[in-house]
Amino acid sequence: MTAPQPIQLRIDKVSKTFGETRVLEDISIAIPKGAFVALLGPSGCGKSTLLKLIAGLEAPSGGNIELAGEALNGVPAHRRDIGVVFQSYALFPHMTVNQNVRFGLDMRDMPKADAKLRVEEALELVKLGGYGDRMPSELSGGQQQRVAIARSLAIRPRLLLLDEPLSNLDAVLRKSVRVDIRELHDRVGATTVMVTHDQEEAMSMADSVAVMSGGRILQFAAPEEIYERPATSFVGSFVGSPAANLLKLHPRSGGGWRFGEIAWNPEASVEARLQLARRFEILVGLRPEQLSIVAVDAPGAIPAEVRSAEYLGGHRLVHLDIGGQRASVALQGRAPETGSVVGLLPDPGSVMLFDANGGARVGDA
Ligand SMILES: Nc1ncnc2c1ncn2[C@@H]1O[C@H](COP(=O)(O)OP(=O)(O)O)[C@@H](O)[C@H]1O
Ligand SMILES: [Mg+2]
Repeated sequence: MTAPQPIQLRIDKVSKTFGETRVLEDISIAIPKGAFVALLGPSGCGKSTLLKLIAGLEAPSGGNIELAGEALNGVPAHRRDIGVVFQSYALFPHMTVNQNVRFGLDMRDMPKADAKLRVEEALELVKLGGYGDRMPSELSGGQQQRVAIARSLAIRPRLLLLDEPLSNLDAVLRKSVRVDIRELHDRVGATTVMVTHDQEEAMSMADSVAVMSGGRILQFAAPEEIYERPATSFVGSFVGSPAANLLKLHPRSGGGWRFGEIAWNPEASVEARLQLARRFEILVGLRPEQLSIVAVDAPGAIPAEVRSAEYLGGHRLVHLDIGGQRASVALQGRAPETGSVVGLLPDPGSVMLFDANGGARVGDA
C-alpha cells in the first residue's frame, strides 16, 4: 500500500455565471497530488470554463479554489505555477522549438544557462530531445502537441491542465498520443487535469473521471466505478460504447414486469433490486456488451424482435425492438435472422436501475 497523497487541488462549491447564465454550479472536487483526472462531458457543459477558473483566466462567481493548500482567490494566472495546454496548441510559428519551450521561463526571468537545461529536460521528457532547432512547421501534429506540453512542463508546474489536447489530431495519432501523455504523466508525476468530451479518452487515460453535465459534476470516481456503478442514467449512457440501452419498465398487474406489452420475469437478484426500486418509475440500463441472445422462453430472458444487424469487424451490433422500445446487443457470433423473436438475457450483475424522473441510480440494498 502506498500512503495516500495530500490534496493538490481543492475546488470547493465553485460557481460561475456569465451575465444571467449560470455555467457552473456547486462544483466541489479534491484531487490528490500526482493524480491524473479527466473532466468528461458533452460540449457546452462547462469543462473549459472550470479549467479557466483553475488557471486563473476567469474568476469564479462563488466558492474557493486551493492549490497545494494555498487559496488562489486573487492570485493572477502567471503566479499560479500552472501549466496549460489548449486544444489549438498555439506554438509561435516564427520561433524554434527551443524558443517556444523557453517562452515561459523567459517570462519568469530565469538565467539563460538554467533555462537551457530546463528546455532540454522538458524536450527529453516528451521524447523530442534533438528537435530544439526545428521550426513548428517541420513537425507533425502529434510532435507539435508534445512541444506544447514540454512548454508547460518546463516551468515545473504544480498542476498541468490539458483542454481537449487530442482533438486536433487524426484518429490514429490520437490513440498513440493518448498513450504518450499517460506514460509521460507516469514519468513526471505532475498532477494533471484533462478536459475531454470523449469518454474512451477519459476512461483510458485517467485515474479518476469527473462526469459533468449542465454545469455540475454528476459523479467523480475511478473509470471502473463509473462504468459499473454509474450514479445517474446520464452517466450510464454517456460512458461505454456502444451506448447503454435505457428502457422504461412497468410493474405488471398480477406480478412480474413489462416493457410496453412485453412481459418480463427477471432472474431473482434482479427481481430483488426491482422490488427495492418499486416506488420509482424505473429505467433499466442494459449495456450492449453485457447482453446475450438466448431462446425466447429461457428463464430471465426479455423477448425481443430482431430489426437489423451491423457488422463491425470484431463483433456485430444487433438492433431489436422490445415492446416499442429500441435496444442493441453486441454479439461475437452470427446475427439472428431479421424479423425473428429472440430472448435477450442480461448478465444479472450488469443490470442498472435508474429513476426515470431525474435519473438517479436506484434499487441498491
Ligand atoms: N465568456 C463567456 N461568456 C458567456 N458565455 C460563455 C463564456 N464562456 C463560456 N460560455 C458559455 O458557457 C457554457 C460552457 O462553455 P464551456 O466551458 O466552453 O463548455 P465545454 O468546454 O464543456 O464545451 C457554454 O454554454 C458557453 O456558451
Ligand atoms: Mg471546451
